[in-house]
Amino acid sequence: MAKESKSKRTYPWKTKIKGEEVILRLMTSDDREAMLEFARALPEDDLLFLAVDITDESAVDDWIRRLNEGIIHTILVEKDGKLVGHGSLLHEEQVWTRHLGGIILLLAPEVRGKGLGHILAGELFRHAEDLGLQKIVARMAADQKSAVQVFEKLGFNAEALLTDCVIDRNDRTHDLIIMSYDVTGFNE
Ligand SMILES: CC(C)(COP(=O)(O)OP(=O)(O)OC[C@H]1O[C@@H](n2cnc3c(N)ncnc32)[C@H](O)[C@@H]1OP(=O)(O)O)[C@@H](O)C(=O)NCCC(=O)NCCS
Repeated sequence: MAKESKSKRTYPWKTKIKGEEVILRLMTSDDREAMLEFARALPEDDLLFLAVDITDESAVDDWIRRLNEGIIHTILVEKDGKLVGHGSLLHEEQVWTRHLGGIILLLAPEVRGKGLGHILAGELFRHAEDLGLQKIVARMAADQKSAVQVFEKLGFNAEALLTDCVIDRNDRTHDLIIMSYDVTGFNE
C-alpha cells in the first residue's frame, strides 16, 4: 500500500523533449477514456505484448481501482492536450515480495527515442525510493529486443529468462525476460 510520498516533485510539471513541450501528471479516474483512446491507437506490434490489455474497458477499470487503492502509481504524459504515454509502478501485493515494484513504460511511437522513457523511469525510481522499495522489476518478451536494450540503458540488469512464459494476444508463446534495477543504489 502506498505511503505518503517524501518526493519533492509535485505534479503536473512541464518539460521539453527535443524542443517539444510535454506535461507529466498523475493519472486519476477521469483518465479512463483517454487511456483507452491512447491504447487503442497503438500499433499492433505494441498491442501484442501488453502485460495489461488497456484497450479493454474492464482492464482500465481494474487499473483505476488499483490506482485508487495505491497499488499502482501512474504518471501520464500529455502532448498537445493528448495522452501519449504512461509510466507506472506496480507495488507487489504479496507479503514476501513487498520490497519489489513492477515497472511498465509505454509511449506512443511518435514520442519514442526522445528521452521520455528515461524521464519516466527516473520519476518512478524516485517514487519507489519514497515507498521504501528495494528493487524494480521489468518483465518483457525476449522478442522485444529494443525494449530490452532501452531497459539496459536505464540501468536494469537481465536476471532470468523463462521459456514460453509470455502468451501474446494471438495465443503464441514467447520467452519472458525478467530485468531488475536496484533502487537502493539510486542517487540523483
Ligand atoms: C520502451 C520505451 C518506453 C522507451 O522510451 P523512449 O522514450 O523511447 O526511451 P528513451 O528515448 O528515454 O531512451 C532511453 C535509452 O534507451 C536508448 N534507446 C531508445 N530507443 C532505443 C532502441 N529502439 N534501441 C536501443 N536503444 C534505444 C536511448 O538511446 C537511451 O539510452 P541513453 O540513456 O544511453 O541515451 C518506448 O520505446 C516504448 O514505449 N516502447 C514500447 C513499449 C515497450 O516495449 N515497453 C517496455 C515493456 S514495459
